[in-house]
Amino acid sequence: MKFFVDTADVEEIRSLVETGLVDGVTTNPTLIAQSGRRFEDVIAEICNLVPGPVSAEVTATDQEGMLAEGRYLAKIAPNVAIKVPLTPEGLMACRILTGEGTLVNVTLCFSAAQAILAAKAGASFISPFIGRLDDVGETGMDLIQEIVEIYDHYPDFRTEVLAASIRSPLHVIEAAQIGADIVTIPPKVLHQLFKHPLTDKGLSDFLADWKKTGQRISVV
Ligand code: G3P
Repeated sequence: MKFFVDTADVEEIRSLVETGLVDGVTTNPTLIAQSGRRFEDVIAEICNLVPGPVSAEVTATDQEGMLAEGRYLAKIAPNVAIKVPLTPEGLMACRILTGEGTLVNVTLCFSAAQAILAAKAGASFISPFIGRLDDVGETGMDLIQEIVEIYDHYPDFRTEVLAASIRSPLHVIEAAQIGADIVTIPPKVLHQLFKHPLTDKGLSDFLADWKKTGQRISVV
């Protein structure tokens, strides 16, 4: 399973890259707005930090506009993935951009029907939003299950399932149990993955008992 980090906070990304856990990054217009910085500068900086796919979302809603913005953004770095919304215009732009060799992440996916369309349009990644489905009383993880099952029937579908709108470690675990290819994780949730109170207590107890021995491991 690949871990992408879902943020446009360069300093957060820089520190998480050191864990060796970062296989890519996803941004969206909201995350870019939260960064308070110029879009192209943020994407360029992230692409320098992370060799894997870095998603940059177009803001045009018509095919021509998406193509123009996508081609412009793709020039920032070879590892830029262009994010387009799951609309007819977005999927037409997806087909053309992937045909030009550009990675495309189709975002704002909320149904299996939409995911089938994205795969038929040649999307590199499909981003079903788990948390936002949960927010409206549906079970977002069921959508991941549906998409993985459907895609598994069609080897010619090259689209990777990129579970998005992740809100908790449980989302990560369940997406892994289902077999999603990628999860894109907010930094807060990624940090939570490490934590368990029994690990903290166990380490503290080990060190307290070791201290009683009066010994040191001499590394020289
Ligand atoms: O990558 C999509 C993600 O940023 C959306 O998350 O929590 O705004 O639904 P959220």
